[in-house]
Amino acid sequence: NFTPDTFVDDIVKELKEKIQDDKVVLGLSGGVDSTVAAVLLNKAIGKNLYCIFVNNGLLRKNEFESVLHQYKDMGLNVKGVDASERFLSQLKGVDDPETKRKIIGRVFIEVFDDEAHQLTDVKWLAQGTIYPDVIESVSVNGPSATIKSHHNVGGLPDFMKLKVVEPLRMLFKDEVRRVGASLGIDAELLGRHPFPGPGLSIRILGDITPEKVRILQDVDAIFIEGLKSNGLYDKVWQAGAILLPVNSVGVMGDERTYEKVVALRAVESTDGMTADWVHLPYDFLMKVSNEIINKVKGVNRVVYDISSKPPATIEWE
Ligand code: XMP
Repeated sequence: NFTPDTFVDDIVKELKEKIQDDKVVLGLSGGVDSTVAAVLLNKAIGKNLYCIFVNNGLLRKNEFESVLHQYKDMGLNVKGVDASERFLSQLKGVDDPETKRKIIGRVFIEVFDDEAHQLTDVKWLAQGTIYPDVIESVSVNGPSATIKSHHNVGGLPDFMKLKVVEPLRMLFKDEVRRVGASLGIDAELLGRHPFPGPGLSIRILGDITPEKVRILQDVDAIFIEGLKSNGLYDKVWQAGAILLPVNSVGVMGDERTYEKVVALRAVESTDGMTADWVHLPYDFLMKVSNEIINKVKGVNRVVYDISSKPPATIEWE
């Protein structure tokens, strides 16, 4: 029978004994796992934990600034690295989904390695790996997953030669959330929907431009805020918006418009392996759709994705 408090006491003791006075580097993603891992390590070794939070330019609207702020409030020793331009310039003109993922994985490793090099005498790489990641080997979320799925491409970056410490590797997701709660981590952060490592890049179908990122961030923010303010966010496992690579004809005043189409997606799931589309209330969809079309320049049509997984996937790319 799992008790979070006992787990915290035991693991903190174990981490102290294992790490002693060594320095540890950890990549924060904004997600639950890396955050809980960081707070545990911070409890065990304090300022010897060096956290790095990378902005790949494909996060949700204002996410980098607000999450970085939250991390600092939690007392974490964290460095925010805004590498948006580096990622977006490497992604320019790329429309193939797997190529996007590879580029993002590679650039993330380069940025992380550059940062890790600036720290002297680091001995450990900490990761927020959880039990399902261990058994599946292909895990889905966060920088740790990005590192793992790419570490056998080419030579190992230097930080991959560090000893690895994974305080959550025996835990399931709900246990990680309970540990997080017992550590006093904000309930809102612990209840966040999963978000893919490649971020909005795989929700912008086709090539990525800064303008498309801006449009999708605005649409996504309206949708997610709407879910929250209508009490629907916690009833949904994952939600987001997708920017389609087509224009459609619309009308505004006396003018015809020819602008972008966005799709909204909200699913129920337990592990992301299968998923059902959520029957969001029609009046909610109506309000959100109106708000998106009225407020987001460049969008004149909103559709709702009513496909389940399988055969559709959760992401469109
Ligand atoms: P799919 O689209 O395969 O998604 O049904 C299942 C879950 O995995 C997430 N996902 C990813 N996460 N890197 C990630 O870190 C990826 O390349 C990736 N692709 C999909 C997706 O958001 C969903 O939670």
